Amino acid sequence: MTICRNLVLCLTITSFLALGCKENKKEGAITNDMEIATDSTSYYKEPYRPQYHFSPEAHWMNDPNGLVFYKDTYHLFYQYYPEDTKWGPMHWGHATSKNLREWTHKPVALEPDSLGYIFSGSAVVDLKNTSGFGSAENPPMVAMFTYHNAEMAEAGRTDYQTQGIAYSLDDGDSWTKYDGNPVVPNIDQGIDFRDPKIFWHEASQKWILILVAGDHAQIYNSTDLKKWNYLSDFGQKIGAHGGVWECPDLFPLKTEAGEEKWVLLISINPGAPNGGSGTQYFVGEFDGKKFTTPQTEEKWIDWGRDNYAGITFNNLPEDRRIFIGWMSNWNYGEQTPTSPWRSAMTLPRKLQLHKKEDYFLSNYPVQAITENLSYKSLQTETSVRIENDSLNQANIQFTLPKPLQDFRIIFTNNAKDSLFIGYSAKLNRFNLDRIGSGKTNFSDKFANRIMTAPAQLQNTDRTAISIFTDQSSIEFFVDQGATVMTAQVFPQKPFTILKIESEEPVKNLKLAPIPSIWKTNYPINKSNL
Ligand code: FRU
Repeated sequence: MTICRNLVLCLTITSFLALGCKENKKEGAITNDMEIATDSTSYYKEPYRPQYHFSPEAHWMNDPNGLVFYKDTYHLFYQYYPEDTKWGPMHWGHATSKNLREWTHKPVALEPDSLGYIFSGSAVVDLKNTSGFGSAENPPMVAMFTYHNAEMAEAGRTDYQTQGIAYSLDDGDSWTKYDGNPVVPNIDQGIDFRDPKIFWHEASQKWILILVAGDHAQIYNSTDLKKWNYLSDFGQKIGAHGGVWECPDLFPLKTEAGEEKWVLLISINPGAPNGGSGTQYFVGEFDGKKFTTPQTEEKWIDWGRDNYAGITFNNLPEDRRIFIGWMSNWNYGEQTPTSPWRSAMTLPRKLQLHKKEDYFLSNYPVQAITENLSYKSLQTETSVRIENDSLNQANIQFTLPKPLQDFRIIFTNNAKDSLFIGYSAKLNRFNLDRIGSGKTNFSDKFANRIMTAPAQLQNTDRTAISIFTDQSSIEFFVDQGATVMTAQVFPQKPFTILKIESEEPVKNLKLAPIPSIWKTNYPINKSNL
């Protein structure tokens, strides 16, 4: 077990088995310290509870899984352990949305079985019923996930991760596992063989599967989603390799000039530039069998420490490539000071491909997040100080002239917590410092360093800054997501003061409070408790 994340998984599994936690707890029960507020005044009002990001009502969540759009509905499945606020035997939780802003909790979609826990994966709509699970009139949704067999791992075997499928004939409400599972067995693939992303490839008229095997990705194809043919490998000695490769995604995107490229996302843990977990990407070609790229430089989707294992929606029109990431980091994800839930997702973000000297990806919250907000214009000077009770749950935007000069944004409160975001023209990089931002001592890996991001800017006259705050997170976007930093933050009291110090006048400063999406009378989904 050379890789840290595997150690975390294994230690967690081992301690579970050792403590016999599963046996000791009533199925589906929650302990007293994880009581869910069911009255309208306290539902989703706990300290640090995100108000417009997705978080489960209770318990542990990690990666987004099975993102798929079908019948005007966005489906978000997610790695879920419904018995604790720490990682445990994985299920797929489920939520749906009509607009990518408001979410409805649904019953757990997939539970562990004799083949193993249900690790990360993806979902498609099998419109032509190639799998035969449904009919032409009622095409099945098909999910592929990794089975992680903890007993086999305990017994010292190395083939404990395999890939299985399940289907739904009622638009994702209930799922049946295929009786021929696993559909991709583990024959000499090693201990990290997981996170299948499947999608329909129009040009070859085949289903494509990309998954990871330790330090590389593997590509397969299929005509029926059940029988898979190995095609190629990608990635050994290419890109960042400071940790195990996880959660791949592969999709086409066009630049503004209409040039189509294929983008490969690979999450990696540890080995991200600012420590722990992060998501790198490659821009290249895919011919239906093989992914290739001339890229030599490492590229990262988000330079903050809290955007991991992100994937994109299947079954959306190709120019709408929407991404959601897990807004945490395996370095401290299980220690963050929240209860009765742990973790949230990033805002859904639109990915776009650009070409300057080289290709790069931008990611920025989908329009649904900002379109109905009421922005208030604020003073515009070189030095700004604003006191506003909405600051902790808002979108703040302003512009600065190019070439960009040094500036510093400070969020603070009367508990003297401070969160700094800045830019150094000398180093041409942004930085985010949460060292004095409030509760940080739950893990010595949370605030042990300032995060930095090399500046990637668009060719526009002014630099546009946009910041989304939500009780325990900050998402910082430069030039519509050309540079991005996402970070969790746990101030002792909500931030109410914003200062901007800048060499150049700040213009177009505006702020919009963002209302909660969790209605106070929201029905509690008892099946998830
Ligand atoms: C990424 C990951 C995946 C795995 C899942 C387990 O965060 O480690 O590789 O499938 O989490 O919960």
